[in-house]
Amino acid sequence: MTGAQRADVPSAAGSRRADWLTRLRLGSGIVLFVYQATHLVNHALGLISLAAMEAGREFFLVVWRNPAATVLLYGSLALHAGLVLYTLYRRRTLRLPRAEALQIIGGLAIPPLFVVHAVPNRLAHELFGITDTYGYVIVATWLQTPLFGVLMVLLLVIAWMHGCLGVHYWLKIKPWYPPWAPLLGGLAVLWPAAALAGYVAGAREVAIRIDDPAWAEELFAAMTLPAQAEAAAAIYGVIERTEYAMAALLALILALRWIRVVIEQRRQLVTIRYPSGQRVAVQPGMTVLEASRSAGIPHASVCGGRGRCSTCRVRVGSGGEHLPPASEDELRVLQRVGAAANVRLACQIRPQRDLAVTPLLAPTAQPHDARARPAHVSGSEREIAILFADMRAFTAFSEHRLPYDVVFVLNQYFRAMGRPIEDAGGHLDKFIGDGVMALFGIERGVAQGCRDALTAAREMARAINELNATLKDDLPAPLRIGIGIHTGAVIVGEMGYARASSITAIGDAVNTASRLESANKEFHSQLVVSAEVAARAGVDLGAFPQHDIAIRGRSEPMQVYVIEDASGLPEIAARAAA
Ligand code: FES
Repeated sequence: MTGAQRADVPSAAGSRRADWLTRLRLGSGIVLFVYQATHLVNHALGLISLAAMEAGREFFLVVWRNPAATVLLYGSLALHAGLVLYTLYRRRTLRLPRAEALQIIGGLAIPPLFVVHAVPNRLAHELFGITDTYGYVIVATWLQTPLFGVLMVLLLVIAWMHGCLGVHYWLKIKPWYPPWAPLLGGLAVLWPAAALAGYVAGAREVAIRIDDPAWAEELFAAMTLPAQAEAAAAIYGVIERTEYAMAALLALILALRWIRVVIEQRRQLVTIRYPSGQRVAVQPGMTVLEASRSAGIPHASVCGGRGRCSTCRVRVGSGGEHLPPASEDELRVLQRVGAAANVRLACQIRPQRDLAVTPLLAPTAQPHDARARPAHVSGSEREIAILFADMRAFTAFSEHRLPYDVVFVLNQYFRAMGRPIEDAGGHLDKFIGDGVMALFGIERGVAQGCRDALTAAREMARAINELNATLKDDLPAPLRIGIGIHTGAVIVGEMGYARASSITAIGDAVNTASRLESANKEFHSQLVVSAEVAARAGVDLGAFPQHDIAIRGRSEPMQVYVIEDASGLPEIAARAAA
């Protein structure tokens, strides 16, 4: 933002605060997830025996019941729950994708369930010296108050799902994640299943052995239960009061949110304009992503609005000058995808004035759209070499052939054209009918691109000769191709829609290369290459005929080399002398 910051515009400090809150939420969530994962491993030991569970518990307590881990664990729990409530308060709309809604509902259900678990165990241990062995927990939850047992199962399932969804949202934009996702998904199911099975096995063992008076006496002795009946009453009392307090806190947050919404509704609405002409009037402070969702406009948001994936990015038009500058985290995400200066994350910007936006990705964007991409993918002007090739008289050939034969020959032909292009370092742009378009030098520079294009043309000619030799009994006449190569400044970038997007180039030089390919028909040649390409490549093509040809849109004729058989092109050194 240039000029003085308006008082009603959110500050950069506000953006930095949002960055920190996101990191704290992620960090505290990871601590809780690790705690839960280790706890479930301890439960799963019940599949071996109750004794194995108890032995595992000793190790578990060494890790998680020391003062430092206690502060870390309960601090993370309080922080994470507080941040969930804060996020709920800040949300301008509760219209959410299903998975996100599920995660928030799960997150709200965890604290009251956790209290039922933690108070009779950890708090009772601290207040009354109870040794909360597995035997104690199983007797208390499964044999004496089965309702608690059911609540514990609910806690296990909901907390695990909540954690897995959070981890999934965190990791799904990492490049290494997709191949591992099925394995991790399997683990996400097996882990709690093993824990539940272990717990049930342990409970069965207790239920059977408790009839043995000597074993039962030993079990109860190990629990070091307090003699006073008040202890149990106190434990239930703490659970009850904590549940009421949490319900009151949630009600307070929802009430505050409602008051804020009512106040904001009195303020002048801001209008978000979309390229389709749609206008969405929203309260100031709502993110653009929330505005899209509230109006039912499909908008990509792979990370669920956490500011990590970049798939919600929009180009901001008029009104963008009133937005606060991007925070460090937003900038980092935008730089990762090589976004232009006028591109922002829709989930991070909260317009206070009318704003025009253009979502840049299709609503169906996938995690791979969030990954780092070379600058040319986002669109840039650069000098490259463009090659067009086309098969001659293929229509006549295909008219008298079975579709199967046509497809077979075409695929052989495409392979014969595609391989030399890729081997020479070119980018196969597209196959159009029986034609092919390729770009050279996008990353290696125009001079190398011109050399690579000439190399590709020579190898394509040789490949078509080999293909003709292979198919000589199947073809009425040898396949013939025409190739045109030109160089110039073009706009390179990923263009298209959804899955039909690819890196391509547009510009005058592209049209000219196509025109040169057509010129082969006039000269009965295999390759027409502009003199400019030979000059940029540093290759002497003086041995081939030179012509001046008219190109539509050019006042001057263009100097070209006409090559009857491109397989006779000279070998070109990887880096010819300039
Ligand atoms: S939704 Fe992922 S960065 Fe905005």
